[in-house]
Amino acid sequence: ALLRHFSLAQLKIFYYSRSLEPALNQLRTEGPIGFVPTMGALHEGHLALVQAAKDAGCLPIVSIFVNPRQFNNPEDLRLYPRTAAEDLALLAAAGCRAVFLPEPAEVYPSGANIPETHLGELENRFEGSFRPGHFRGVSEVLYRLFSLVKPDFAFFGEKDFQQCAVVETLVKAHFNNISLQRVPTLREESGLAMSSRNRRLSASGREKAAAIFQALQQAANGRQQGLAPNDAIVEASRWLELAGIETEYFALADPLHLEKLNAWPQGNAVLLFAGYLEGVRLIDNLRC
Ligand code: PAF
Repeated sequence: ALLRHFSLAQLKIFYYSRSLEPALNQLRTEGPIGFVPTMGALHEGHLALVQAAKDAGCLPIVSIFVNPRQFNNPEDLRLYPRTAAEDLALLAAAGCRAVFLPEPAEVYPSGANIPETHLGELENRFEGSFRPGHFRGVSEVLYRLFSLVKPDFAFFGEKDFQQCAVVETLVKAHFNNISLQRVPTLREESGLAMSSRNRRLSASGREKAAAIFQALQQAANGRQQGLAPNDAIVEASRWLELAGIETEYFALADPLHLEKLNAWPQGNAVLLFAGYLEGVRLIDNLRC
């Protein structure tokens, strides 16, 4: 408790970029800035991003902002968990140096110039086809946050696999000086990928949701068994049906452009999944 108290005193919280900027400039004299953008409702997966920033020798800076522009469903935005007090305690204990907690008007002041990032087909595939406008919203908020924080490194979890590809495109287009770091997905013991949305599942829902990772693993094993990807996915989908999970997409794709693949490639591929359980939208993926 003493340590936590001490760390809380160390953690600086900023609501406005005009006070964030001089504080960041001061921190920059100590080392590179490692930025972890989040929407709060933090869990161990986020803390792993903070740890990755520390491991890379960076000063971890976290933003907490539930970005209205990336929600295509107003109900999803309304129900998105908001746990700021707990989040700050977790970040203090994790050794985060500063938190940016802006209001929408701070991120999107009227007249803010946000250049368009050409995402191409990445915008329409998988997540993009089920969440129209989602990646446009993600690119807009990250354009603003990167412009305000000016980090040296930025850390993203691979659970949002397509988002990582979108951020790579954004960074290439506008932020050559930011080094993008992808961090592997953290999982519960059951294999369920950690996600803020898991809080909306019942205890039994959380158990059933482990079927997603089991299905991904079984589909990946299909490769060794000589099954075509689509057959492997159909077989593996039984796990999902048994658990009462409703699939939106479950497919093999190339990891760079997320183009759907109908044959196992020579090199790397990724299995992508999205679906609903208890009305909660869950996504996961597995490289194979
Ligand atoms: O992954 C998220 O939590 C959000 O999409 C992000 C990157 C913080 C942008 O709002």
